Amino acid sequence: MKEKIRAAILGLGTVGTGVYKIIQKQQAEFPHKIGAELEVAKILVRNKNKARDGVDMSIVTDKWEDIINDDSIDIVIEVMGGIEPAKTYISEALAHKKHVVTANKDLMAEHGHELLDLAAENKCDLLFEAAVAGGIPIIRPLKQCLAANKITEIMGIVNGTTNFILTKMTDEGMEFDEALRLATELGYAEADPTADIEGLDAGRKIAILASIAFNSRVTFSDVYTEGISKISAKDIKYAKELGCVIKLIASAINSDTGVEVRVTPMLIPESHPLASVNDSFNAVFVHGDSLGDAMFYGRGAGELPTASAIMGDVIDVCRNIAFGCNGRIGCTCYKELPIKAMDEIESKYFVRTILEDKPGTLAAVASTFSGNNASIDQMVQKTKYPGSAEVVFIIDNVKEKLFLRAIKELSAMHYVKEISSIIRVHNDMN
Ligand code: NAP
Ligand code: HSE
Repeated sequence: MKEKIRAAILGLGTVGTGVYKIIQKQQAEFPHKIGAELEVAKILVRNKNKARDGVDMSIVTDKWEDIINDDSIDIVIEVMGGIEPAKTYISEALAHKKHVVTANKDLMAEHGHELLDLAAENKCDLLFEAAVAGGIPIIRPLKQCLAANKITEIMGIVNGTTNFILTKMTDEGMEFDEALRLATELGYAEADPTADIEGLDAGRKIAILASIAFNSRVTFSDVYTEGISKISAKDIKYAKELGCVIKLIASAINSDTGVEVRVTPMLIPESHPLASVNDSFNAVFVHGDSLGDAMFYGRGAGELPTASAIMGDVIDVCRNIAFGCNGRIGCTCYKELPIKAMDEIESKYFVRTILEDKPGTLAAVASTFSGNNASIDQMVQKTKYPGSAEVVFIIDNVKEKLFLRAIKELSAMHYVKEISSIIRVHNDMN
C-alpha cells in the first residue's frame, strides 16, 4: 500500500473549495479510513491570479499538463463543470490510469457511457455520486445496496433552486420573478438560472438516475422537460384549495411498454412525502420490488454537502487502491429498454381557463374533452369577470396526445377566452 495518495482538484469554485476544506479538516482521519495519507498535489483553475483564501497557492496551476504529466497523481477530482474541456481532461486522466471523481451531471448525462467504458478499459474508478442530489447518497445505494431489486419507479425533487422558488411562492405568496430574485441573492440560483428553472438540470439528473435504476441507458435527450417559469401564484393558490402543493418533479417509470422519463411541475397531494420537502432541500423516492418504498432526503447542493458526496467517492477510490480492486463497479447498464414517447404517456391534468359566461359553454367544453377520451374529474368555478369566468378542470388520466388534441380544439372555440395554465397532477390526488 502507498503511504500517500495524491489527488488533483480541477476547479476551485463552490464545490472545489468544499473538497479542499474537507481534505484539510480530515487529514488526521485518512490514515485510519484509507490506510494512507491523502494529499492535494495540484489544483487547476482558469484564473491563477484570483485570491483564494486559505489555499496553498504553490499548488495552484492553470496548466492541465502539470497534472496529466505528473505520474505521482492517483486521483483527479473534476469540479469545473461543463462539457469541454472537462470531457477531454477526464478521458486523458483515465487513459493515464488516474481514477476520476466528478460532480459533472451535464457530462455524465450525455457522455457517461463512453467515459465509463474508458474507465473499464483502463481498470480505473469513475465515480459521480455528487452529480445527482448533491450531498444525498443515491447513486451508490442504487448501484450497491438496492442492486438485488427490480426498481420500477424513481421520483424526486432534484433541483434546489426551483424547490426554493416554489416554496417561497407557496408559503409567502411571492410571484415567480420575486422568488427567483431572492434565490439569486441567496446564491442558490446560478448567474444564468435557465438550466435550473427550465428543468434541464433536473432532466440531466433523472437521466442519470433512470439509467442506474433500470440498468438501461437513458440520456438527457430522452427526457421530456418542462420548467416552472409559467407557474403563477394563482395556480399555487388553486392547488392549495385542492389539497395539493406544486413541485418540480423528475420521474422515471419502468413500465411494461417502456421507460417513461420526464421533468414537469406537478400538483402533488399534501399527504405525499415529497410535498413536505421544502426550500433548497432535495429528496428522491424509490420503489423496488423487494424493498418497497424508500425516500432519500437532504441537501441537494452547496459547498460542503456536495463536497461530502465527492469525498465519499474519493475515500472509496482510496480503499479500492489499497486492495487493488479499482474499476470494481463500473457501468451497470446491461439492458436496452425502449423509451416511451411523451405522446403515449398518460397523466392527470390541472387546466385553468377563462370561459365565456353564457349558456352552453360548459357543455361545449365537456363535450370537447370527452370527444378526446378525457374525463373531467373535478371542476372549480370561483371568480367571475364581466362576461367571463375563471374555471379550473382536473382531467383524469389520459394519453398526452389526446389531451393536447382536446386543448387545441378548445383554444379554437369562441367559448374559451384563454387557457391560462396546464399542470400535471399526481395520480394519488383524489
Ligand atoms: P463554480 O463555482 O463555477 O467553479 C468552477 C471552477 O472551475 C472555478 O474555480 C473555475 O476557475 C474552474 N474552471 C472552470 N473552467 C475551467 C477551465 N476551463 N480550466 C480550468 N479551470 C476551470 O462551479 P461549482 O458550482 O463549484 O460546480 C462545479 C461542478 O459541480 C459542476 O459540474 C456542477 O454542476 C457540479 N455541482 C455543483 C453543485 C453546487 O451546489 N454548486 C452541486 C452539485 C454538483 P476560476 O476560479 O479561475 O474561475
Ligand atoms: N443548480 C443545482 C440546484 C445545484 O439548484 O439544485 C447543482 O446540482
